[in-house]
Amino acid sequence: MGKDRSGGRPENGAERRLTGSPREFQFHGRRSGHRLREGRRALIENRLPALRVCDPAAEEPVSDLASLFAGPMRGYWLEIGFGAGEHIAAQALARPDIGFLGCEPFVNGVAALLAKMEAGDIANIRLFDEDARLLLPRLPEGVIDRAFILFSDPWPKKRHNKRRFITPKTLDALARILRPGAELRFASDDMSYISWTLEHMRRCPDFSWPAAGPADWRNRPADAVETRYERKALAEGRRCVYLGFRRN
Ligand SMILES: C[S@@+](CC[C@H](N)C(=O)[O-])C[C@H]1O[C@@H](n2cnc3c(N)ncnc32)[C@H](O)[C@@H]1O
Repeated sequence: MGKDRSGGRPENGAERRLTGSPREFQFHGRRSGHRLREGRRALIENRLPALRVCDPAAEEPVSDLASLFAGPMRGYWLEIGFGAGEHIAAQALARPDIGFLGCEPFVNGVAALLAKMEAGDIANIRLFDEDARLLLPRLPEGVIDRAFILFSDPWPKKRHNKRRFITPKTLDALARILRPGAELRFASDDMSYISWTLEHMRRCPDFSWPAAGPADWRNRPADAVETRYERKALAEGRRCVYLGFRRN
């Protein structure tokens, strides 16, 4: 995106590529919280298996997104770390002709989204209940039209910064699956993570940031809904920043 187009890339590009193997990184977040109520547990057991994008343990490529959905889709959008699913559910409800892929390893969040899908009769979401870094390398090239990373864990302590989702490797993996012209939306209330993301994007030749002025990053995009973390941040008086990057 910016002047330094090398992005600090190692000589051998393969060294920095995600492969989809669980051995190459560690997931540092929570996988479960409070005990699931009976109804939610039943959703995980009975509904989730048929709604999975793929078997997280299989390490096999996902060859065709169209076959995941009942009818033809106009495009495919991806949300990474959907939390309790309020954003992906609202987007999917508003756009039944878009196929949504949602990644979230936190089982309580997955159950919350399944409950929303059932309540809203939402049929155009498929789930990956594991670390998104396992899915990205398995998706076909250039198939995603929009991706969302909203209020991703900021890992504010310096020694934990490297756990952040935005890294050269994940940006490479995202660049591979996003079609040219696609949008990558990132939002956060953590100014250190915002700066980190802008700096990583500046070094990545695959993305540009077409913002013209503060109105472009101070306001939530008109078609987006507030997420749980965003609501909490705003209630506690923190400012949120919304970045929209374009795949070159
Ligand atoms: C701070 S929460 C924000 C949730 C939601 N986006 C919101 O704004 O309310 C971050 C979420 O990202 C998920 N997450 C963290 N690392 C992830 C990864 N590598 N792949 C997929 N999801 C991840 C966490 O489990 C958590 O639910």
